[in-house]
Amino acid sequence: MIRARIIGCGAFLPDNVVTNDDLAAKVDTSDEWIRERTGIRQRYIALPGEKTSDLALGAARAALTDAGIDAGELDMIICATTTPDESFPATATIVQSRLGMGHGAAFDVQAVCSGFIYGLAVADSMIRTGAARTILLIGAETMSRLLDWNDRTTCVLFGDGAGAVVLQAHDGLGDNSDQGVLNTRLFSDGRLHDMLYTDGGVSSTQTVGKLRMHGKEVFKHAVTNIAAAIQASLDAAGLTVEDIDWFVPHQANQRILDGTARKLGIDPGRVISTVAQHGNTSAASVPLALCTAVREGRIKRGDLVLLEAMGGGFTWGAALLRW
Ligand code: UT7
Repeated sequence: MIRARIIGCGAFLPDNVVTNDDLAAKVDTSDEWIRERTGIRQRYIALPGEKTSDLALGAARAALTDAGIDAGELDMIICATTTPDESFPATATIVQSRLGMGHGAAFDVQAVCSGFIYGLAVADSMIRTGAARTILLIGAETMSRLLDWNDRTTCVLFGDGAGAVVLQAHDGLGDNSDQGVLNTRLFSDGRLHDMLYTDGGVSSTQTVGKLRMHGKEVFKHAVTNIAAAIQASLDAAGLTVEDIDWFVPHQANQRILDGTARKLGIDPGRVISTVAQHGNTSAASVPLALCTAVREGRIKRGDLVLLEAMGGGFTWGAALLRW
């Protein structure tokens, strides 16, 4: 059976660090409130002129170097983003051009904070069906461009950044001992649109709009939906939470990470958390956390890793892989 194995990963963050105290100088908030309610201590914010494709390219180059391949060996680039450089063409095609690549296919996936999980499901399907052998999957965002900096309930939560992985086809036995993606589970419920959305868009207002969120409602759904997605992935593999070496969640709020771990009986020591450093970077959050844990030597070859995310739509999902 063909499996999609991650052969390299990379991350890229803007140079500009914005601390909670920096925000408190501009908005009616405090370091104490942000840390206690979210666990966030700082976030990276792209400088004027710094685009999603710049961050995506940085992460892409790091992932290609880590994989030891060059862009000529890629069959496909998928970029998960909700903050593209332009309404069209896809940010993935801009990265493709800047990598000097004129072959294969490049496209974006839009599932907001679940974008990387959705992109991983697409990449895994492409590889397992033989449509592609080597895929660059990027999660990249400049969420700062969508924020209402006068709305303290949202502007303190988000940050900018990018993470990327290179997936390649490998032969596996078809059981849980295989290296690579073992399963993915995707969900959405469009009826909950009004909980988290932008109040503008190409076909409605001809502006990008600003991010709007009913935080408390999103919080409640997040713990329930993420726990359900993790359980669905575990059930599909015939595994339990004890079998998983590392959980790599979407980094929205430390309290969501803790609440989900409590609900499922997960040892908090096995949950990767980078929310304090990165804030919520939407589709970039899972690959940034994954790459951080790999670079720090926590996730090692052979470990079972469960990725999960939830975002606007609502969309949510999980992916189980052996590193
Ligand atoms: O990526 C996926 C989507 N996003 C999420 O998963 C986020 C989910 N939601 C959350 O993380 C939390 O709901 C928030 C962090 C957004 C808010 O935390 P909360 O504990 O639900 O706070 P709250 O909205 O109930 O607000 C409590 C108080 C309010 O004041 P009053 O009405 O009690 O006087 C807010 O006005 O905190 C106030 N508040 C703030 N105070 C200082 C809200 N934002 C701030 C702020 N600084 N930045």
